Amino acid sequence: MKMQPRTREQVNEFLGKTFADSPLTPGPVERIFFNYLKNWLGRKIDDSERRKIREVAKESYDCEWQKSGCDTHTYIKEAERRIGLIGNEGMNQKLAMMVVPFIINMLNKRRENRKIRIFEIGSGSGDTAYSILYAMRMECLEAIKHCHLITLEPAYAKVEEEDLIDSSDTKGPRKESNIAVMAAKLRQLPHEFRPKWTPVGDVFESYMASVTPGCFDIIVSGSAMHHIPDPRYWYILRDKIAEDGVIVFADWFTKIFSHPGLLVPTLRDLEISEAKIRKYEDFFGLEMNEYLAIEKGFIPEQVKSLEQMRSYIKHLSDELKLAGKARMQRDSELLLFEGHHSHDETIRAAEEAGFSANKNDIICHANVSPTIHTRYNVNQGSDISTVFALVPRKRKSRRPLPMPKQQVLKI
Ligand SMILES: C[S@@+](CC[C@H](N)C(=O)[O-])C[C@H]1O[C@@H](n2cnc3c(N)ncnc32)[C@H](O)[C@@H]1O
Repeated sequence: MKMQPRTREQVNEFLGKTFADSPLTPGPVERIFFNYLKNWLGRKIDDSERRKIREVAKESYDCEWQKSGCDTHTYIKEAERRIGLIGNEGMNQKLAMMVVPFIINMLNKRRENRKIRIFEIGSGSGDTAYSILYAMRMECLEAIKHCHLITLEPAYAKVEEEDLIDSSDTKGPRKESNIAVMAAKLRQLPHEFRPKWTPVGDVFESYMASVTPGCFDIIVSGSAMHHIPDPRYWYILRDKIAEDGVIVFADWFTKIFSHPGLLVPTLRDLEISEAKIRKYEDFFGLEMNEYLAIEKGFIPEQVKSLEQMRSYIKHLSDELKLAGKARMQRDSELLLFEGHHSHDETIRAAEEAGFSANKNDIICHANVSPTIHTRYNVNQGSDISTVFALVPRKRKSRRPLPMPKQQVLKI
């Protein structure tokens, strides 16, 4: 369904008025807009909007940081459990299982004596990286010391009162920076088997502009790419990955943001008043409950994943209410941000940017339940938490692979 193009002024007016007194503050709503500008504005994004996206990325990152804490993670886990999703933790294990054979293969093929550069986007307190190292420890311990791990995490610099990290290697929650928690995880490996490690405290948008093309062999990310608002991120990744590299991502996907109408049932679940929902529908020129007609155009798998996402958001909202926290209202703003792109859009964007979407090259696992591990049709991407691997399509000319200029931290 085609949207009427909107000007920036119209969008700003909408942000100012419609949500002025709703549970959603303009910051996160603005982020939704900038994430989905292409879909929601019905036109291409211009340069000034792109600059704005970068600013919004930083602002909304800071805003999320203020709101989330280890209690938020507890509620997320409970909501995942209730609807039978394996969630971040399970996805990390699957990601690790997928990435290790690529690492071994790459090491076997490489003639030059240099480390395999594994770049992680959004490493948080290191669970994704640790899952990979754990899997390597089981399968190819020796290979670890041939790896250079570069972990990107904007929160490295932050330690705050509410940043209580419940880490499995400590007794009870503690207050420590993500970088320290990750360092402790790496220290669990015998000294001679630790990887070279470069932690980078920055957001994707600015860090990627500073590194040289083709410099990463393997790029991984666990539940973080949906936080990246730059709609060109696949092009950036294609530029920075080695020609024989591979990307392995685990993330959340949803169709919800592919059309503004699809968000209406969720706004109801979040108990936004009917009057405001009507305003929202008016702004986008939607008929009342138009989402029902939009959904009719979806294949059953897409409807299923849409329902899964709604159900997940609803459960999470209920969890927060049950907890009755004073911070609940603010936390509830987070709910809309799990999964920003749909799976089919993601694969299409990757293909446009120069990754192979050839079925033989894509490995993809839907996480329908903790026990079922299926290979499935990537074009119909149905489940909201999915792990997949993509390789770059071959280019004619090969570029050299210079080192990223970053300091190495002793661990
Ligand atoms: C859900 S956590 C995942 C952490 C870890 N990979 C795991 O699976 O446990 C998402 C991470 O993405 C990071 N993040 C958010 N926005 C980002 C951005 N613009 N650039 C890089 N990382 C970002 C957050 O700080 C957060 O640590």
